[in-house]
Amino acid sequence: MTTRNPPATRHIISINDLSDREIETVFDVAQSFLTELPDGHFPYRIGRSTKIASNSILASLFYEPSTRTRLSFESAMLRLGGETITSADPTTSSAAKGESLADSVRVIANYADIMVIRHPRDGAAKLAAEYSPIPVINGGDGSHEHPTQTLCDLFLLKKKNKRLKNLKVAISGDLRGSRTIHSFVYALARFGATIMPMAAKGMELPAHVDQRLREEFRCQMVTGKGDGDAIDALYVTPEEPHQQSLFSAAELESNIDVVEKKVDAVYVTRFQKERWADKDQSYPKIDRKFLSEPKYSEASVMHPLPRVGELDAAFDADRRAVYFEQAAYGVPVRMALIALLLGLKGKSLHKFEGGFERPKYPLYDQPRPIGIHCANKNCIVHDPMESQYVRNKFYVVKTQTAAECKLRCAYCEGDIEHFVVASRKNKWFAADPAALVRADEQHFKDIVVFAKAADATEAGFHSRRAAAEPKPRRRAGSKA
Ligand code: NCD
Repeated sequence: MTTRNPPATRHIISINDLSDREIETVFDVAQSFLTELPDGHFPYRIGRSTKIASNSILASLFYEPSTRTRLSFESAMLRLGGETITSADPTTSSAAKGESLADSVRVIANYADIMVIRHPRDGAAKLAAEYSPIPVINGGDGSHEHPTQTLCDLFLLKKKNKRLKNLKVAISGDLRGSRTIHSFVYALARFGATIMPMAAKGMELPAHVDQRLREEFRCQMVTGKGDGDAIDALYVTPEEPHQQSLFSAAELESNIDVVEKKVDAVYVTRFQKERWADKDQSYPKIDRKFLSEPKYSEASVMHPLPRVGELDAAFDADRRAVYFEQAAYGVPVRMALIALLLGLKGKSLHKFEGGFERPKYPLYDQPRPIGIHCANKNCIVHDPMESQYVRNKFYVVKTQTAAECKLRCAYCEGDIEHFVVASRKNKWFAADPAALVRADEQHFKDIVVFAKAADATEAGFHSRRAAAEPKPRRRAGSKA
């Protein structure tokens, strides 16, 4: 039985698994379905079916509640002429008996041709992909990512604005817990957007997402006028990824146009109560009054849904309310993604390799049980049911500042900045992250990384400084 997927299998775990060109290809194919299979009344609705997937089966493996994602994936497969099999309730599947995700995936891969998975743990979809010989699509993993929601969001933005580049988008609510936001901001940054975070108190973007926006996507922070406006900071991104911004930071700060430019979209999210222990948060409400400011006069008001009070239902009749149209695009967009992953539309995503051109970081793959573990307690590596199937794997990400580096969990993509590096051969350790940058991937097997010095000592390593200190010299006349 295969334990690891063949290298050619293409999985969509992050929005960054798709290049800009591939995203445009998904949209071309989605539009062709809307044109070829029209509803006749509503231009955003698929009204007919085709037979192109008549020999294919989609498996939905959902460990968390879902309405739109699961049903639109299944509707998409049925509209393509394929079949669907569903495990929508973990209390009625073998998960309730204690079966690991890694085992379930290897079994289900024999029953279907493509799989969509939703799971409460960050990084679960990546683990599933490691064990699946068929394409795995991430339908939302913890608070990590939700790439296909972002495809629907971008498709809507493209429809409304006739372009994806250089949009100005406000994002409101639980920016920490919302996986939809995390995929969305990476994509927005890649397309050169200006992003206006309007986080609920204490629910700002996670530090690692903020850092990636600045370091990997070259976003610059601009502070607003501080006049009591809800928005006091913006991420401004250059038009092309990897292209330096045309503005210096000082120029940006005085660039009132950037701050005052009309907003193309306001993206509202609900409080992700299932991801927070403290459920008594005050939360911003977006309503007609908030949206009456002139800068929102042409903004599309978006929401991944469900909404639970943060977006006033009295706004639904407003021409700017586009959230139900956004949800309708779940069908053509997911039809396109399935068709491309299965190579059913003349075009295939298999022909493209590697997704978004992100830097290639060396992988530090550490055997259990010793050494550092991911610091995110919700990461799949901490799921007791998966303990035999995951390893602690980290990308060694060189930071901009120096020869320093941080570790990025290969599953949840959370970062660890402080750690000690030990040598198996010499049995010493040092608080010297740069040792990982200096060693190439081949030498990683001599290295063990620990979260802190005490862990290294407990595992039998000694501090390099202590080892290097000269032994005290014997005084003359002292006894041997
Ligand atoms: C989102 C999700 O599950 O992350 N729902 C969806 O797929 N449209 C948003 C949410 O639950 O808040």
